[in-house]
Amino acid sequence: MNRAKHIAIIMDGNGRWAELQGKKRIKGHEKGAQVVKSITTFCSENPEIERLTLYAFSTENWKRPRLEVEFLMKLLEKHLTNELNSYIVNNVRFEPIGDLREFSKSLQKTIQNVKEKTAHCDGLVQSLALNYGSQNEILRAVNNLKNQDDDITQVMLSNALDCKHSVDLLIRTGGDHRLSNFLLWQAAYAELFFCDTLWPDFTTEELEKIIKKFTKIERRFGGLK
Ligand code: IPE
Ligand code: IPE
Ligand code: MG
Repeated sequence: MNRAKHIAIIMDGNGRWAELQGKKRIKGHEKGAQVVKSITTFCSENPEIERLTLYAFSTENWKRPRLEVEFLMKLLEKHLTNELNSYIVNNVRFEPIGDLREFSKSLQKTIQNVKEKTAHCDGLVQSLALNYGSQNEILRAVNNLKNQDDDITQVMLSNALDCKHSVDLLIRTGGDHRLSNFLLWQAAYAELFFCDTLWPDFTTEELEKIIKKFTKIERRFGGLK
């Protein structure tokens, strides 16, 4: 049976969820943040799951209207500040990925603080992908490695990425079937699950069902059974 050691989720559908109810898109992001909390707690209680990597803000999301971007930044800051204690109580280590230098100094400080205060936690590792794009991540890694004499190996590149761990199970909510620049290297052999549920409606029960299906898949990694 497969173990879903590393689960990655493209949390999509917040805006449509809100619009369907005649609300502003930001209401969907607010509800989405609550779902982040419940899914993280669920994963932290399941010892099989070691890592949960959540796509929260892409390198392309800066293209959105200024007010939506500003709201997302505030929401992130509020979420991290309010949740610091539950990270610690649930023994969850916070390891952000992405190019954090683009964020305001205050948000960078909040991110760094949660990272430091949870560094001792040895349960689930929760990574929020923040100003994350796989192409940007790979380029930064290559640029960090390029000045040495030896050829770059697969292991070297892998270790130079923000996320150094291959993904077992990759889920996208919201009905679209694309990766949108998420973990392109790490998901080389991930099992992909796409569901129509909009992220604010995603539940731990739905995640449990997906994990159950995942455990039964035959993963061959290019070999034979
Ligand atoms: C995902 O939901 C959250 C972010 C990208 C920040 P969306 O905001 O993309 O919601 P839809 O896809 O427009 O419904
Ligand atoms: C992917 O969702 C990014 C996040 C969930 C953070 P998008 O809504 O930005 O992706 P596209 O534009 O549909 O590809
Ligand atoms: Mg979307």
